Amino acid sequence: MVTRALRARAAAIAAPGVRYHGSHVKRILVRTKPRSYPVHIECGLLARAGEIVRGLLPNQRSQCFVVTAEPVRRNWGAVLAQSLERSRVAHHWLETADGESHKTLAAVERMAARMVELGADRGSVVIGFGGGVAGDMAGLLASLYMRGVALVQAPTTLLAQVDAAIGGKTGVNLKAGKNLLGTLHQPLAVITDPAVLATLPEREFRAGLFEAIKCGVVRSPKLFAFLEANRELVLARDMKALAWVIAECAKVKADIVAKDVAEAGLRRTLNLGHTVGHALEAETRYKQFLHGEAVGWGMVAAAMIGAGTGKTPPDAARRIISAVLAYSPLPPVDARPAALLARLRSDKKTRNGLPHFVLPRGIGRVEVTSAVSEEAILQALERMRSLSRH
Ligand SMILES: NC(=O)c1ccc[n+]([C@@H]2O[C@H](COP(=O)([O-])OP(=O)(O)OC[C@H]3O[C@@H](n4cnc5c(N)ncnc54)[C@H](O)[C@@H]3O)[C@@H](O)[C@H]2O)c1
Ligand SMILES: [Zn+2]
Repeated sequence: MVTRALRARAAAIAAPGVRYHGSHVKRILVRTKPRSYPVHIECGLLARAGEIVRGLLPNQRSQCFVVTAEPVRRNWGAVLAQSLERSRVAHHWLETADGESHKTLAAVERMAARMVELGADRGSVVIGFGGGVAGDMAGLLASLYMRGVALVQAPTTLLAQVDAAIGGKTGVNLKAGKNLLGTLHQPLAVITDPAVLATLPEREFRAGLFEAIKCGVVRSPKLFAFLEANRELVLARDMKALAWVIAECAKVKADIVAKDVAEAGLRRTLNLGHTVGHALEAETRYKQFLHGEAVGWGMVAAAMIGAGTGKTPPDAARRIISAVLAYSPLPPVDARPAALLARLRSDKKTRNGLPHFVLPRGIGRVEVTSAVSEEAILQALERMRSLSRH
């Protein structure tokens, strides 16, 4: 539930000229091809997004097209619009239906048709303003429109701020599966304002936190320790704490993306918790778990598999499981282990019939392997299921 106090604080933070006490600007560079780009992180930054966008416009006549959905436009549209107006950035809204089921090529095509009507040309800029759904569609639209126009990401969910907005992956779903159509199209900049998280529904907020825990386990012991030690502050959405967490996650993702844009190896480590997570999501027809929640259970399973096979030190496994539970509630796992195992075997990332797992070797270090016996997987899934019911 979003409290009135949180909303009021968010409005105060977002008011032009008002700085959140104690906040500091972070700027993280994502070094990738064809160019590097900055992730700007600051409380209240949305009110100054216009200045940043203005500096990125390809030419004086450039128009911006803001891809968003109703909840984001209702809560934060005016702040972004005023900021763009103050910086004399011409802009139009491309509002699309909200939710994962609307992340389709048809929706992208409708937006492209609207851009033509509004006179968009190759100098236009698409702004992804919303969660991962809006961001993924904005990215795909930008990469396809007239064979590619500029993109700016302004993520508004925690999941998008710590993950989806960075790295250039775009995509839409097909009936046959999620994200089956997509491109790689890096943004010119990412504009991240933690203050917008004040209006995010509680469940969505927590779902993003599991991805943040993941970043800690994969590559940042200090991020993991911070999340362990500051549960109350983080769950109360203390803006300074969130800005720090988001920046640390952005650093992890930027670092990995820079070293491995094509997901050849390193980028796979970010799939910690996703092997079992995807199986859980699919087995429950995407109805029972938010993506981040499924990743939470997936990390528990990975820690249990790791501990069971001697790859994860017992203390690290215990800390990972405790951290996930500390940021619960998570929906319980009803899916049968055998059904989940069958899903794992048919995962699109399966090689030679063997699912690959990202297993923790400690906090901040992981290993990708498919050398895990089915028995070890089943045992861990059973333990995860019974843990979820207590
Ligand atoms: N491109 C990538 O690298 C990448 C990485 C991870 C996930 N993704 C994609 O991201 C998507 C999931 O993203 P998500 O979890 O952000 O979900 P989402 O985009 O559906 O957003 C969740 C809900 O929160 C609302 N919302 C967003 N910001 C809000 C705010 N500040 N206040 C109030 N409501 C707000 C949205 O309108 C929506 O209803 C999936 O489609 C996934 O495939 C992409
Ligand atoms: Zn994820």
